[in-house]
Amino acid sequence: MRKSILVTGSNGLIGSEVCLYFGGRGFDVHGIDNNQRAVFFGPQGDTRWNQRRLQQALPRFQHHEVDVRDRAGVEGVVADVEPGLIVHAAAQPSHDRAAAIPFADFDTNAVGTLNMLEAARRHCRDSPFIHMSTNKVYGDAPNRIPLTELPTRWEYADPNFAHGIPESFTVDQSLHSLFGASKLAADGLVQEYGRYFDMPTCCLRGGCLTGPHHSGVELHGFLSYLAKCNVEGQEYKVYGYKGKQVRDNIHSEDVAAFMYQFYESPRRAEVYNLGGGKDNSCSILEAMELMESVSGRRQVYRYVDDNRVGDHICYYSDLRKMKAHYPAWSIRKSLPQIVSEIVRAWQERATAMPRA
Ligand SMILES: NC(=O)c1ccc[n+]([C@@H]2O[C@H](COP(=O)([O-])OP(=O)(O)OC[C@H]3O[C@@H](n4cnc5c(N)ncnc54)[C@H](O)[C@@H]3O)[C@@H](O)[C@H]2O)c1
Repeated sequence: MRKSILVTGSNGLIGSEVCLYFGGRGFDVHGIDNNQRAVFFGPQGDTRWNQRRLQQALPRFQHHEVDVRDRAGVEGVVADVEPGLIVHAAAQPSHDRAAAIPFADFDTNAVGTLNMLEAARRHCRDSPFIHMSTNKVYGDAPNRIPLTELPTRWEYADPNFAHGIPESFTVDQSLHSLFGASKLAADGLVQEYGRYFDMPTCCLRGGCLTGPHHSGVELHGFLSYLAKCNVEGQEYKVYGYKGKQVRDNIHSEDVAAFMYQFYESPRRAEVYNLGGGKDNSCSILEAMELMESVSGRRQVYRYVDDNRVGDHICYYSDLRKMKAHYPAWSIRKSLPQIVSEIVRAWQERATAMPRA
């Protein structure tokens, strides 16, 4: 029997990478997406170009134009396909956008995840279910860790976090944003379906997931949007923390590669912090310098004194649990490689109108 995968959010950064990764390994690939990113962020967030790319690259790819909030629609697809693996990557992904659209945010992130889980329990309960969660489930609690100010970045002063933030970090009693709260609800549900119903589920709590196929916008997709501004000569706004706030960046291909490991050897109700780790971390100031060295163009930016509400000052993932459970997996794409790929992609998109 052929192997099959169902990917929600298949037009997006992670979804599309996962489709290509598993499609290239002999899976029948089904995608669910309704281009909701264009509704959340306007035309700049449109992901149809990525859907066309999948349809060209994977002749057997089947797109399902379904909204994950549509319970019956979702169940219909899962019942028809009975996938051997589900990757749930559809979401309202922005911290800042959520406050303006609280119902759409919660219905998509929390209720949409419940719709997927319940459909999976009814029709393919033994198939691994991988959920894209976020480091925002920790709220702003990481900001309570003592920090040292270095010339271009903040750094943890507490040696307990020398490797980054572990999965045991508290998710409780901190400021999450509505996005963080809706994703935390989803994360809890995914764990519960693992423990209560004994299903092979896992939550991947993403740091900055990125790559050349992100439709970066100001409110989501930091490196992609920064590269877009650089390539197009637009001003980039730096919000607070002196531009020294630290993010860990992971290429979407390294994310898909971890999912493959989990598929091969699934576990129950697992949680992993999935980012670039310390080696792939950078501050905004450092990212701008890297961007300039790759593109050869000066980065135009404006500093805004107010930080984004609840924004992490320093966050990078402790990758040791992932590596211990799946020793065959490691980060393959370094930060300079990632930035080069993203800059090249925006340069190509700038010369190809309309986007294809
Ligand atoms: N990119 C990051 O830096 C990052 C960081 C942490 C966590 N995550 C999580 O990873 C997942 C994927 O993120 P991404 O960067 O690929 O986002 P993305 O916005 O590029 O992709 C998400 C896709 O889901 C689709 N979608 C949204 N709402 C939908 C709905 N109601 N029904 C059907 N489709 C819908 C969108 O159209 C989009 O194509 C999300 O769960 C996000 O929260 C991403």
